Amino acid sequence: MNDFLENGPMNPIKIQDNTFRDGHQSLLATRMRTEDMLPIAEKMDDVGFWAMEVWGGATFDATHRFLGEDPFDRLRTLKKHIKKTPLSMLLRGQNLVGYRNYADDVARLFVDKTCEAGIDIFRVFDALNDFRNFQTVVERIKANGKHFQGTICYSLTERRMGGDVFNLEYYLDKAKEIEDMGADTLCLKDMAGIMAPFDIAKLIVELKKTVSIPIHLHTHYTSGMASMVYLEAIKAGVDIIDTCLAPFALRTSQPAVEPMIASLYGTVRDPGFDLNALLELDEYMESIAPKYRDYLAKHRMSVIDTGVLAHQVPGGMISNLVSQLKEANALDRLPEVYREVAVTRKELGTPPLVTPTSQIVGVQSVLNVLFGRYKMVTNEVKDLVFGLYGKTPAPVDPDVQKKILKGYKRGETPVTGRAADYLEPELDNARKKAGDLVKDDFDLLIYALYPTTGEQFLKWKYGLEEKPPEIMPKTMDEIEREDKAVAEALEAVRKGRS
Ligand code: CO
Repeated sequence: MNDFLENGPMNPIKIQDNTFRDGHQSLLATRMRTEDMLPIAEKMDDVGFWAMEVWGGATFDATHRFLGEDPFDRLRTLKKHIKKTPLSMLLRGQNLVGYRNYADDVARLFVDKTCEAGIDIFRVFDALNDFRNFQTVVERIKANGKHFQGTICYSLTERRMGGDVFNLEYYLDKAKEIEDMGADTLCLKDMAGIMAPFDIAKLIVELKKTVSIPIHLHTHYTSGMASMVYLEAIKAGVDIIDTCLAPFALRTSQPAVEPMIASLYGTVRDPGFDLNALLELDEYMESIAPKYRDYLAKHRMSVIDTGVLAHQVPGGMISNLVSQLKEANALDRLPEVYREVAVTRKELGTPPLVTPTSQIVGVQSVLNVLFGRYKMVTNEVKDLVFGLYGKTPAPVDPDVQKKILKGYKRGETPVTGRAADYLEPELDNARKKAGDLVKDDFDLLIYALYPTTGEQFLKWKYGLEEKPPEIMPKTMDEIEREDKAVAEALEAVRKGRS
C-alpha cells in the first residue's frame, strides 16, 4: 500500500472554496446573486475551509453591469455572515478587476477600500508574470496588514512543461521572485486546465526546495486532468488546493471538493471535513441552480474539452476565435488559425494565454489569417509590443516589432519601465466627471473602473433611473412556469402524433 499517505505525521491538506467566485464565473457567466449565497453562508463558514474566494475576477464587472448589485455591498454582506473563514479575492495586478492597467492612485484606493469592505487574502496575478505590475497593490495590501498571495500564471508552449520558455527553471525563478516580494503564500494558477499531473508533482517537489512559503494550487477541470493533478500534488506535498461544491464544479470550473474528501479520508492529508455537511450544501446549490441554467453551456455532450490537450489554447479563447471567424464567414479556416496562434504568440514574446493577453493574441491571429500577417494590427497589440503591459516572458520578434510600431502614436522605440509609470493619475478627473452621482469612495471606484456601466449602475442605485426588467432575477416560480409550458408543448406534440 501507499506508505506515504497512511503513515507518518499528519499534514492535513488545506482547502479553499471557490463556489461563490470562480465556480459561477466559470460555469454561469458570473451571474450568481448575493441573495442565493446568503442562505448557506453560515454553514459554509462552519466547514473549515482555509479561505473562501468570494470576490474579484469578473464579479465586480458582472454584479454592477448585469445584476444591478453593488459589488462592495456584496462583500460587506458576505463578511457579516462569514465571520471565521478568511475571504479571498482574485486581483489582476495593475488591472485590478478590469481589463486595462489603471493608474497608481486608482490601484491604491481600490486596495484600501477593498480591505475596509472585508477582503483578507489578495490573490494577485499579472497576465505577463511581470511582477512589477504587483508593486503598487502589494504595498497597500501589506500596509493594511492583509495576506498577499503572489501568483504565477501557469503556461505551456508544448504538450508538457519544458521547452525554452515555460520550463522548470522559469517557474522556480518566478517563485523566488514572489517570495522575495514578501508574499505570504505562493499560488500556481492554471486558468486553462493544462497542467499535467506528473509535471505538477515534479514542480511541487522542486518548489518546496526553493521557497519556504506555503504553495497553493489553482486549476480548472477543462481538459479533464485537474483531479489527477490535485492528487499528485497532494502526494508531492502541496499545501492548499482550490475546489468548488459539486454542483458548481467540474466542466470549466474547479474540481469538486467531495471526491477529494472521500479520497483522502483516513490518510495523513485528510482535512477532516464533514462529508454529510457538504452534501447538504450541495442540495441547496442544486435547488437554486435552475435560476441560472440558461447560462450553462450545454451544446456538447462532453463535459471536458479534449481539444485543449492537443493545442493548449484555453477553452474561452477557442470560443472567441470561433465567433470571430463565424462573423467573417470563414469558420473553415479554424485549423489555420490554431497554427497561427502558436506563431503569433511566439512573435509577440510568448505571453501566457490569460485575460487580457489571450484575447490580444487571439484577435491578432485571426486578422493575420484573414488579411495577411500584420497587415491589420489592433491597438492592443501595438500597446503590448510597445511595452505598456509590461515585459513579455520572451523578447518580441525584432522584425515584427519594427513593422508593428511603424508610425505608432507613442513612438517607435518600446519602453522598458514599469507599465503604470506611463499613466497619469485618474481619480481627480473621475471625481470631476462623476459629480454628484458619486457619494463616497466606493462609488468613485465603481465609476473610475467602469465609467460607462458604472455610471449606469449608480443611476439605478440612487433611483435616478429604473432598473430594466432584464437585470431582475428570475424566480423559481418563473422557472416552474417555463418548465410547465415546455411539458405542455411536448404533450401536444405527442398527442398530435398518435
Ligand atoms: Co480560475
